[in-house]
Amino acid sequence: MLRHLVTKIKATGPISVAEYMREVLTNPVTGYYVNNDMLGPDGDFITSPEISQVFGELLGVWCVSEWMGAGRPSSLQLVELGPGRGSLMNDILRVLGQLRSALGQTELSVHLVEVSPRLSQVQAQLLTGAQNQQADSEDQPVYRHGTSPAGLPVSWYRQLDDVPRGFSIFLAHEFFDALPVHKFQRTPRGWREVMVDVDPEDQLRFVIIPAPTLASSSLIQVDEKRDHVEVCPGGGVIVQRLSNRIAEDGGAALIADYGHDGTKTDTFRGFKGHRLHPVLEAPGSADLTADVDFSYLRKMAARRGVACLGPLPQRDFLRNMGVDTRMQVLLRSCEDPARRTQLIHSYDLLTSPDHMGLRFQFLCLLAQSRLAPAPPRPAPAPPRPAQGLKVDDKTPAPLPVAGFSELTFS
Ligand SMILES: C[S@@+](CC[C@H](N)C(=O)[O-])C[C@H]1O[C@@H](n2cnc3c(N)ncnc32)[C@H](O)[C@@H]1O
Repeated sequence: MLRHLVTKIKATGPISVAEYMREVLTNPVTGYYVNNDMLGPDGDFITSPEISQVFGELLGVWCVSEWMGAGRPSSLQLVELGPGRGSLMNDILRVLGQLRSALGQTELSVHLVEVSPRLSQVQAQLLTGAQNQQADSEDQPVYRHGTSPAGLPVSWYRQLDDVPRGFSIFLAHEFFDALPVHKFQRTPRGWREVMVDVDPEDQLRFVIIPAPTLASSSLIQVDEKRDHVEVCPGGGVIVQRLSNRIAEDGGAALIADYGHDGTKTDTFRGFKGHRLHPVLEAPGSADLTADVDFSYLRKMAARRGVACLGPLPQRDFLRNMGVDTRMQVLLRSCEDPARRTQLIHSYDLLTSPDHMGLRFQFLCLLAQSRLAPAPPRPAPAPPRPAQGLKVDDKTPAPLPVAGFSELTFS
């Protein structure tokens, strides 16, 4: 990867940090995500669904609750962006299996957007066992498909645009932080882009480009107050596409990641073996990530006319979803002391402000109609018992949005 990048930069000049991230993470031959299974204790980092099954179970309840809030449509597509090892979807499907009677005859299907062939195999093994197969040719939009043990169709895509249209609940956990960011520095001569160059010893280094670039001229907000910013235009485009689908087909999206509300500056970092790793060192051997700017995602969603709730800290979202009660139930039925210690530790990791409780945020996108106040109840019908029209005065109020119920929306 280093040789490839050095050759490229020497041939065409410095590359943007976004291009550097894209090459390092998703280059189809040598990309970090393309070849590795990097999650878990033996990998480079661990995520909430890998820490505790309770995380995915509560998100499963959230999906069912949103489907009910939308008036129980007859089909439901569960779409996950960047499913990692498939643990989150596996825990969600277990909950859906337990709530099967509430879901009735609803046509359920699972759609996974995954760039990594290696991880798609891991996901397929977990979600379908041997019941999956790869597409015959590389250019099929569905590159793998299978069937879960409960008989649900599961399909894999390289990009969101390939997922069929229809009422969908979209989930993106630690997906947006892996998308490429551009970096910009305020200078006495205006905003300039930070790029990646090579030094005389053929090592990578950051440089500030003296003249404006297309990105530095077009991606900075006019009222920007910070001196250094990271902008993720690819994340903005995906949020706009999610929003279009939600506005037109109904549904919701739940985006969970570490991030901020347009306040942080330099968050670009690497992780290797659960430790920070210099971002330009041994590219391709470590994860690269940048905090998600939720204020930017909200702006992109608002342009497409969907409602946004949050971002809300993970601790509050999980508490609103009943994590305390669920943990108490698990602890009550657990007699193994080691397992009890592990349950308490995982609860602490997920909710404590010192761990993931405050750093991780949840943002929800919803169709405006989902939150619209219920139409006023019609006046009671005059008493004409025999041939009078029956007036339904029981129009239900919209269900509160689980996990976010105390928030107002924008
Ligand atoms: C940090 S991992 C998170 C995995 C999982 N959601 C979890 O929380 O355990 C990022 C995931 O997104 C996938 N990914 C990264 N960039 C992608 C892209 N541009 N398109 C589709 N998937 C991508 C990776 O292969 C991986 O599955």
